[in-house]
Amino acid sequence: MDKKHRKTIIAGNWKMNQLASGVPAFLDELVPALRCGAGEEVVLCVPFPLIPAMKAAAGGTVVRVGAQDVSAHDKGAYTGEVSAAMLQDLGTEYCIIGHSERRAYHAESDELVNAKLKALLGAGITPILCVGESLEQRDAGETLHVVSSQVKAAFEGIRPEQAKAVVIAYEPIWAIGTGRTATAEQAQEVCGFIREYLAEKIYDWETSKAVSILYGGSMNAKNAAELLGQLDIDGGLIGGASLKPADFAVIVKAGNEDA
Ligand code: 13P
Repeated sequence: MDKKHRKTIIAGNWKMNQLASGVPAFLDELVPALRCGAGEEVVLCVPFPLIPAMKAAAGGTVVRVGAQDVSAHDKGAYTGEVSAAMLQDLGTEYCIIGHSERRAYHAESDELVNAKLKALLGAGITPILCVGESLEQRDAGETLHVVSSQVKAAFEGIRPEQAKAVVIAYEPIWAIGTGRTATAEQAQEVCGFIREYLAEKIYDWETSKAVSILYGGSMNAKNAAELLGQLDIDGGLIGGASLKPADFAVIVKAGNEDA
């Protein structure tokens, strides 16, 4: 399976922005501007309280709804947590896990990310697994080591057929919210490495070639086409630019191979 047979996924990560009351107006502006290809999926990963509003407003459109985190537990005494079953009940189709902001500010370990990945697969929700190195790690030449150990730990105990349903997002921490995008070559190098690592060290090429690998980190309307044109980059995970309907629509168009 080569690039054109994998799904192109353009996913917005709204982080802790917007209100439920603003969702209909946002989609009213975004949806008419979308030029989405046949093999392309458009996803908006929103804060938990916005999911019902997004689901209602996105009904009948190409926009799919995602969350930004999930509990590793099924149910019980876990105050403040949201389970995979609750997300599924609301019609959530995607969920980000292991974002660097959660790893950094909520001390999420690789083991916890692995448990969350299993919880999502059990509920039939597509995980968007984030991996990526810090600037210090890049400067120390540790990028591939850091990324491969995050990938290895996240896929622990996951069968090949399940692995094909996982989306990976390579998000170098130094590129997130900084305006300092990875060059297309830097992004392709790591995304290509992740595919090779999945094929040679964990699974096989058949499995690895089915996995969509996204790039995230200051992707915007200007740089999206070049990044999305790379061999192993199957889409984007977009923060800031996903909050601007016109910019997000340009990124979706850049991912549309039919356009
Ligand atoms: P920015 O696009 O704002 O750099 O954020 C990227 C990101 O963290 C998406 O998950």
